[in-house]
Amino acid sequence: MARKPAYYGGEPVRDEVLGYGSQSITEREKEAVLESLEGDYITRGPTVEAFEERVAELIGVEHAIATTSGTTALHLAGRAAGFELGDDVITTPLTFVSTAHAATYNEATPVFADIDPHRRTLDPDAVREQVTNDTVGLIPMHYAGHPADIKGLLEVADDHDLTVIWDACHAFGGTWRGEPIGAQRDIAVFSFHPVKNVTTGEGGMVVTDNDELAERCRRLRSFDMEYSPSGHDDEPWYQVTEGIGYNYNVTDLQAALGLAQLDRLEVFKHRRDDIIEQYNKALDEIDGIRTPPDATESDPMYHLYAIEVRESFGCDRTEFVNALHAENIGVQVHYVPLHYHPYFQEEFGYEPGLFTETERVYDGLVSLPLHAEMSDRDVTDVLTAIESLRDADLK
Ligand SMILES: Cc1ncc(COP(=O)(O)O)c(C=O)c1O
Repeated sequence: MARKPAYYGGEPVRDEVLGYGSQSITEREKEAVLESLEGDYITRGPTVEAFEERVAELIGVEHAIATTSGTTALHLAGRAAGFELGDDVITTPLTFVSTAHAATYNEATPVFADIDPHRRTLDPDAVREQVTNDTVGLIPMHYAGHPADIKGLLEVADDHDLTVIWDACHAFGGTWRGEPIGAQRDIAVFSFHPVKNVTTGEGGMVVTDNDELAERCRRLRSFDMEYSPSGHDDEPWYQVTEGIGYNYNVTDLQAALGLAQLDRLEVFKHRRDDIIEQYNKALDEIDGIRTPPDATESDPMYHLYAIEVRESFGCDRTEFVNALHAENIGVQVHYVPLHYHPYFQEEFGYEPGLFTETERVYDGLVSLPLHAEMSDRDVTDVLTAIESLRDADLK
């Protein structure tokens, strides 16, 4: 007899809630943090520097600047790029709010362009349609870790002299055409939030090959302070600020965790790939479920496993999400499109109906649990819950 979904009165497939994302921390990583507490610095010190060097080496760029979050990294990147009042910066509506804040924190206007529904990332043709004389920048986001159309977007940027900030918060550890995602010009940003591919608790990183952008980010991260101004050689205390900077300094404690996590990057990727393979194998067979796009010219490290639930599955996305929650499976939706948010509507006049592809994709989106601590049993629970929902008589 078919299993009865919990949503329709059956027993949940599991007792404990399985979150869509979670950190994975070993004893060695805990020890690394404790050891850092013995150091002279527990704020930004040599361990942060070592973490930055290691990330720069991994990504293959000249500079890495650690910050307190992906959000603050985006703020710094936008400011370093010179975004300001009167500027338009094109980005995707299918993202987390912080992507657009690389523009809004700097008083520039975020201009949304529709997505390519296959990759779920900015469509270069849609971007071209939005370019005006006020456009100065582009912020593509590598949704779920799958690279955006990097080549197509760089062509648009070249044609219109746009500064590109890649929001690579989902994509740490992946490659595109054999080069690490994040190495592309002009600047890229990572997040080390606990659900991301690697964590430092909270944390982020700006990476770039551009010396000037890197120097601006470093200065702005720490009060826009000149610590050795010229003409004050005999006044060692003399420090001056030349603008409004921030305190986005990350601590050696966080960097110690980050460094230790990097030692397990391959392990994390391998486990995520393994879970994805299990999901794909089962879900490709199910009518009404669109599995994530295959990796083209890339070897992504996926942050999310986002499916699209379509009508032929038998229930809509809302029912699907609530039915999985009833089974104690913590699915999530990434993201409510930015033009649905009151802030972007009130401030910039956006409204639903403007971005057809984004809205169609969003209507079906559901992120299934994906993280390195998941067991095969957890994966089976998710699949059992979905299969029994499909088999239930929902009409
Ligand atoms: C695409 C994207 N950009 C930026 C951020 C912001 O990162 P953080 O949470 O580290 O501030 C997130 C975090 O969820 C994200 O998903």
